[in-house]
Order: sequence, then structure tokens, then C-alpha cells
Amino acid sequence: MLSQKLHDAINAQINAELWSAYLYLSMSMDAEAKGLKGVANWFYIQWLEEQDHARIFINYLNSQDAKVELKPIEAVRNEWPSALEMFQDTLKHEKVVTSLINNLAAIAQEDKDFASTNRLVWFIDEQVEEEESAREMISAFEAVEGNRYGLYMLDKELAARVYKQPSPLATAAE
Ligand code: FEO
Repeated sequence: MLSQKLHDAINAQINAELWSAYLYLSMSMDAEAKGLKGVANWFYIQWLEEQDHARIFINYLNSQDAKVELKPIEAVRNEWPSALEMFQDTLKHEKVVTSLINNLAAIAQEDKDFASTNRLVWFIDEQVEEEESAREMISAFEAVEGNRYGLYMLDKELAARVYKQPSPLATAAE
């Protein structure tokens, strides 16, 4: 049984994950418009992954007999000057998400809610990966700044990224 405080905070997190999905879809569409098909693919997969994050929290609330309350999703930015700036914004945003996840974990700990603490461990690990991959992208795009051929090759490389379903959803489907 979740405390009301954690229940409310997870509902807010579902909204934050859906907002993240919307942000990355917007980056994907902007990259598409700029002819950067690989960058568009990378952010399209982020869009899918963020929806997965929302679904993991939705499944968790349902499993705890706690009602999911959907809130409006705020507007997102629609244009960035470059792919590098998209990835810089990604890192900035993921740091905010990390602090939100840490806050959920702190509430679960305060509540001595071990099931929620356990569920949140996956998200804590995921945030380490999210920040690390944004940092790697920033370094890669900084390395090719002003080099059109380098940008072309890097974009080609990002086109190869494939979507993988996260393990908590595979478990939920069993
Ligand atoms: Fe749902 Fe990118 O964190």
C-alpha cells in the first residue's frame, strides 16, 4: 500500500515521463526537418523509451491498487539550432529527471516502502545510463563541429540505433 504522498508523486512522475517523451518526439521531428535522419532515429527511440518509463509507473500503480491520474502535458520547444544543442538540452533535462527519481526514492525510504524502493532501483540505474548516453552524444557532436562530412558519418551511425523493450515491461507482460 502506497502512502498518499508517494502515490501523488508517482502520478506526477508519469506526467514528467510523458512530457519527456513529447520533448524527444519534438527533437526527432526537428532533426527530421533538418535532414538528420540518424539523429531523428535516436530521438524517436528516446520517445518510445520515455513512454515505456511512463508505462512502468502506470503498471506499478495498478499493481498497488493506486489510481493513475493523467494530467495535461505541457507544450515543448519545437526547434533547436543544432543537434549538439538538442543533446545538451537532453542532458540538462535528464539531470532534472534524475532528481525527480531520487526524490521518489527518498519518499519510499521515509515510508519504509520496500516494494516501491525496489521498483525505483531500476529507474535509478536507468538515469545513470540516460545521463551517460547524453554526455557521449555531446562529446561526439562537439568532435564533429564545423565538419560536414563528420556530421554525415555520425548521423549515419545513429541511424543504426534500435529500440529494446526494458526488462520491467517484459516482466509485466508475463
Ligand atoms: Fe524517463 Fe529519460 O528518463
